[in-house]
Amino acid sequence: MQDVRKKWDGIYQERAGQHAGDADRVLRENVHLLPRGGDALEIACGLGANALLLAERGLHTHAWDISSVAIGQLQAVAREKGLGSLRGEARDVMLHPPPPQCYDVIVVSHFLERDLASHIVAALREGGLLFYQTFTRTRVGGSGPRNEAFRLADNELLDLFSTLKVLVYREEGTAGDITRGFRDEAMLVAQKPS
Ligand SMILES: C[S@@+](CC[C@H](N)C(=O)[O-])C[C@H]1O[C@@H](n2cnc3c(N)ncnc32)[C@H](O)[C@@H]1O
Repeated sequence: MQDVRKKWDGIYQERAGQHAGDADRVLRENVHLLPRGGDALEIACGLGANALLLAERGLHTHAWDISSVAIGQLQAVAREKGLGSLRGEARDVMLHPPPPQCYDVIVVSHFLERDLASHIVAALREGGLLFYQTFTRTRVGGSGPRNEAFRLADNELLDLFSTLKVLVYREEGTAGDITRGFRDEAMLVAQKPS
């Protein structure tokens, strides 16, 4: 994992000064589903665009990434914005997954470690929401990882989180007018049953 950390630290060092950008579509388009308060976690947050949105919405937000460089940049932005409710942590989530029953909201984007799925489900409180968006093997464009192992098979998010109640699922593959729509990725919003 030392190599993974080094690789990502290097990438974020090169991108120093770059803005985190917008939150991902799974969160932006379903922001109305968020609770008014509570505890949120973004896993493998990178520069933390989703975590910033969650904190701005009043959630106590943890943001974890293996890269201390990314976390340092996120914390600087959070300080500038006066977001005291956002806590970044450099953390290898495979070695230190989230503890059970701690979060009302968990967000994961562009990160796929299948062994983490059961920990994510366990980490949600009853009624808690998972927002997940990442790349699919079925695609029309060239974005995302070249290694197919880091891309979702058809319907895979539904399979990985089959114990949760699906609120939103979108995966358009190669159907219809491929110049439009939500392509190359899948998104899931799902709720832990009470
Ligand atoms: C493709 S980037 C996605 C970042 C962000 N979620 C986004 O969509 O912009 C993958 C992220 O996963 C992080 N990462 C990789 N392995 C990790 C691990 N074991 N624990 C925590 N973070 C990890 C990397 O540092 C990197 O920020």
